[in-house]
Amino acid sequence: MDTRTPMIAGNWKMHKTPQEAGVAAQKVKDLVKGVEGVDVMIAPSFVGIPAVAAAVAGSGIIVAGQNMHWEPQGAYTGEVSAPMLADAGATCVIIGHSERRQYFGETDDTVNKKVRAALAQGLLPVMCVGESEEERDAGKTFEVLDRQVAGGLEGISMTPDKPLVVAYEPVWAIGTGKTATPDQAQEAHAHIREKLASVMGKSLANATRILYGGSVKPGNIAELMAKDDIDGALVGGASLQPESFARIIRFREQ
Ligand code: PGA
Repeated sequence: MDTRTPMIAGNWKMHKTPQEAGVAAQKVKDLVKGVEGVDVMIAPSFVGIPAVAAAVAGSGIIVAGQNMHWEPQGAYTGEVSAPMLADAGATCVIIGHSERRQYFGETDDTVNKKVRAALAQGLLPVMCVGESEEERDAGKTFEVLDRQVAGGLEGISMTPDKPLVVAYEPVWAIGTGKTATPDQAQEAHAHIREKLASVMGKSLANATRILYGGSVKPGNIAELMAKDDIDGALVGGASLQPESFARIIRFREQ
């Protein structure tokens, strides 16, 4: 849909030192200079945020955290809060990534608290949802997506001035080289948008960007982006090399 500006987001996970992140971000900035009509986001490690923010200053590239705590401060050793992210130079934050859910005990309830805190801070949350392979094989994909969307947004009244981005990341496609087919992804995205409409109303749901994530590469981005309800991508492995990330960002030229 034309009214949704595509977003191509790079999730650098636990890769790149701050120095390496700054250099890579500078390269991305140079490689995508002049590209219009697409929002570019980079999510480095927490400690890489200041270097990346400095490298992309003035370019419009969005800097994001990969996670956050829901409290603004407190005795939570090892955690980082929304005000800290904002002060370090982030304007966006990934919440509920499947690796957080799988390895670090993230639940729909903690996702909900974090989305709430991010919105309150004025950060753009990128809320991740997605089914596992067993869930898909058991025919439970839609049920899982419904539960994650409803749980993540429970009790939050969304408004047009504080938007949210949703990332559909089927767990079986992350870092595995197995991409959902464009049709599988479109089907899930359309379902998520229907669920969003029941939670926040049709017009906000239509304005909400839904990104696809899971083994996105320069070679498959164009066919994914051609689908009606796919509004961008959350890219892991292929975002680590500035050249391949830039090719994904330049998906219209493929
Ligand atoms: P991938 O990761 O592109 O390496 O599959 C995607 C993600 O986890 O966001």
